[in-house]
Amino acid sequence: MPLPTFRCLRGLAGLCLALAASAAVGQAYPSRPITMVMPYAPGGPGDTITRVFAAAMQKTLGQQIVVDNTAGASGSIGTAKVARAAPDGYTLLMIHVSHATNLAMYKGLPYHPVDDFEPIGSATNGPMVVVARNDFPAKDLEEFIAYLRANGPRVSLAHAGVGSASHLCGLMMMSALNVKLNEIPYKGTGPALNDLMGGQVDVLCDQTSGTVPPVKAGRIKAYAAAGKARLPSLPGVPAMTEAGVQGLDINISFGLYAPKGTPKPVLEQLTAALQKAVADPEVRARLEGMGISAVAAEQATPAHLRAHLKNEIDTLGGLLVKAGVKAN
Ligand code: MLT
Repeated sequence: MPLPTFRCLRGLAGLCLALAASAAVGQAYPSRPITMVMPYAPGGPGDTITRVFAAAMQKTLGQQIVVDNTAGASGSIGTAKVARAAPDGYTLLMIHVSHATNLAMYKGLPYHPVDDFEPIGSATNGPMVVVARNDFPAKDLEEFIAYLRANGPRVSLAHAGVGSASHLCGLMMMSALNVKLNEIPYKGTGPALNDLMGGQVDVLCDQTSGTVPPVKAGRIKAYAAAGKARLPSLPGVPAMTEAGVQGLDINISFGLYAPKGTPKPVLEQLTAALQKAVADPEVRARLEGMGISAVAAEQATPAHLRAHLKNEIDTLGGLLVKAGVKAN
């Protein structure tokens, strides 16, 4: 008789929930569809990346992987859903920097990003770019900077919630330019980008997986790469440093997690499937088309993702707190 696995949830007044994950024990894993939770809205960079990996990994695992966009509160609602799920390999989480920043930003977060999860491996690395609605009144980066400095809070800055990638990038840009813009939070940069294309908001700093396609299609304008150098995906767009502005340098990495207590053989199978996905030429080509890269296979490992998360918790959470940023 296989033993059920039990797990305890944080933030529920010490209540220890026993979740029987035994149903799947004894059967070859996976024997039914897997859910991959993306805690940001459909149509954004995280959603696109998750769908690329779900499609590649389901070929290896021989079972369908369903993407579940449970968005809100800077990814913490979807992340809590995975922390609460049975640790049986059938509910996974794809997430980026907000897994680290939410720990510092949300009082009473109902999970701990390290203690309640098993890292499977890193998946992608990608840069960010500052974009604006198509009729934004600046013909180049110099004019863009001058406009932001002259108009400050009359310019709206869309982002995906406190501690999200787009929020961090926006904060770095405002600090580098010494301006304060009017922040408009969304449940993801998918809906933020829709509003940017519709002209309802002015500016967004987003990952290239979201911005390169609409920039190339002429639906939004790109003003600056949010790093020290121009991006191969948008070679005509200057880096912020070319306008003499320092301090805007950000890269976003996504990684895959399972709930704490997921059996080791299941985790090993998932890491192997992730490593196959990052090495898949089709996956690499699709990501390259969006200006991002799949990590090297040796980074698609629990050890690499664990170290990456620890580094982001140690550096970014503190930075946000020091900058006086609060979520609740
Ligand atoms: C998204 O998928 O919407 C983004 O990753 C959100 C963000 O962090 O900017």
